[in-house]
Amino acid sequence: MASDTHIEIDRARIKELTEREAARLDERTQGSREFYARAQRSLVGGVASSYQSRDPWPIYLSRGKGARVWDVDGNEYLDFHNGFGSMVQGHAHPAITRAVNERIELGTHFAAPTEDAIVVGEELSRRWGLPKWRYVNSGSEATMDAIRIARAATGRDTIVKIFGSYHGHHDYVMVSIGVEYDKIGDRFELDSLPYGLGIPQAVSEMTIAVPFNDAEAMERRIERLVEEGRAPACVIMEPAMMNLGVVLPEPGYLEAVREITRKHGVLLIFDEVKTGLCIAAGGAVERFGVVPDLVTLAKALGGGLPSGAIGGTSEAFELVEAGKVVQVGTYNGNPLSMAAARANLLEVMTPEAYAHLDALNEHLLEGCQTVISKYSFPGYSVGIGSKGCVTFSPEKITDYLTFKANQDAELCELAWLYNMNRDVYMTPGREEEWTLSIAHTFEHCDRFVAAFEEMADDLTA
Ligand SMILES: Cc1ncc(COP(=O)(O)O)c(C=O)c1O
Repeated sequence: MASDTHIEIDRARIKELTEREAARLDERTQGSREFYARAQRSLVGGVASSYQSRDPWPIYLSRGKGARVWDVDGNEYLDFHNGFGSMVQGHAHPAITRAVNERIELGTHFAAPTEDAIVVGEELSRRWGLPKWRYVNSGSEATMDAIRIARAATGRDTIVKIFGSYHGHHDYVMVSIGVEYDKIGDRFELDSLPYGLGIPQAVSEMTIAVPFNDAEAMERRIERLVEEGRAPACVIMEPAMMNLGVVLPEPGYLEAVREITRKHGVLLIFDEVKTGLCIAAGGAVERFGVVPDLVTLAKALGGGLPSGAIGGTSEAFELVEAGKVVQVGTYNGNPLSMAAARANLLEVMTPEAYAHLDALNEHLLEGCQTVISKYSFPGYSVGIGSKGCVTFSPEKITDYLTFKANQDAELCELAWLYNMNRDVYMTPGREEEWTLSIAHTFEHCDRFVAAFEEMADDLTA
């Protein structure tokens, strides 16, 4: 947890070290610079998704194996990014590679159901304790369809989300995410702010944001929405926030949310696109013991192939079952993705794999916390399952408001540069958490800690 006494970090020193480390990284990634120059001619911004952008150029990767990835310059990194948490299995896992190779020979797409889709559904039902499943191809599709199902089930349009949470790139949820602190609004009356251009005002106004870890604020807002004649269809939320570093639910919070949503006839959707399969075999539902009406999965489900799933109670899925909610998609349940997901679930992400991840993460979190204490650094380490981070803040972050009030973007950028120059690959330029893979070792975690300690040492020299 956040230390009581901490040093003030010299901002000029951060700037000086950032310049030094950025120059060093530029020097070792000249191949990426050339790729970028070429890519800009055909790819918008030189990348496939804006989340891959980086100044002055993105680092282009060529391959991955186990816990390692290589960039186009041949630099070898230990991968703590792991494709935004999709690769908790490690890269090119033999069981997944075998399953995909076998499937490829048998045909890759029919838009007809296959046995693997049934097996995956059975295993997800077992893990999450939710009986019914459907597939999609990404996290965005999963949350979009889950919201439609909730709207149909309740006959309501308004939805509630957590301020600062990301649930994918469709209009319903591209609201109240990364905005300036002074524009957020009052805690009990947070604003509905479109995230980027092109989101219709009418759509963003249907999405109401409430702060994380504050059941009272949620209930008050829901009650007001009921009074205004626009009771919400659902609350969609990550059970543990994974895009402000890691923000865990305070004890009793998820239970309270479950009670509030039930009381007001609001469906509860746990967006487990990041937590699912990464923090426990049965995700946050297993870890925290609170069962929502619907759950969304993606990322780690397909072991590196595009996939996603929506799970839920029989009641939640009633109108889909009856054909009244049209939940469809040409590539839903794609045989290649399902073969990968089957191997992933049955052969790779086993109870032993989760025990290994828990032990590794404890080791890494402890290592980082030791450095923080040794240098009286403002911050703390926090994590769960394969996920974790060092939060550079003198105070504990519990929601977007505390995050924005304490965010240290400069220090985050410097930590990223230190990692990259010491062969630790992390998500560029933001408060992303690490995701460990089952191919990681204790020694790999020590290398992460060593890079962090070097930065702390240089900053306090
Ligand atoms: C919690 C959460 N939900 C949904 C999504 C969207 O997933 P995708 O990028 O696969 O559409 C993300 C992506 O980062 C996410 O973190």
